[in-house]
Amino acid sequence: MTSEQTFIAVKPDGVQRGLVGEIISRFEKRGFKLVAIKLVTASTEHLEKHYSDLSEKPFFKGLVTYMASGPICAMVWEGREVVKTGRQLLGATNPLASSPGTIRGDFAIDVGRNVCHGSDAVDSAQKEIALWFDKSEINSWKQANHEWVY
Ligand code: RTP
Repeated sequence: MTSEQTFIAVKPDGVQRGLVGEIISRFEKRGFKLVAIKLVTASTEHLEKHYSDLSEKPFFKGLVTYMASGPICAMVWEGREVVKTGRQLLGATNPLASSPGTIRGDFAIDVGRNVCHGSDAVDSAQKEIALWFDKSEINSWKQANHEWVY
């Protein structure tokens, strides 16, 4: 079975609003496996690296300030096609375009306060996981219900 990993983060607004448990729950219930998790107050330098692709965007400075404004819940989730399916669970970047039933579609209105982040491709997931986590922080474990999910 091919499995992959993705980087999912509950942004500072999501942590402040008490949505960490809800977001974890949605990934767990879908059948994905949590392999790393920590609460991090990220530095501006770290966030500028994370969002380096967006450095020319007019919203870049505000985005980094928002992301540095409080703790982020950083996670690595594992499972079949978790990168693409994780993005579906989060919903569209602009919450007003997100379907009800997605995290952003249920809990957000403003693109600048969209609650969560998810890697957009397998290669960017690998880069983001390496930026946010040391290898020793990633757990390898067998899901007891694995045969019931796949
Ligand atoms: P994310 O990286 O946070 O998961 O978001 P994304 O891939 O869905 O979207 P991306 O284009 O990478 O944008 C990153 C974050 O920047 C903020 N943003 N603000 N027009 C705006 O003011 C604007 N556009 C994007 C959002 O917080 C978005 O999640």
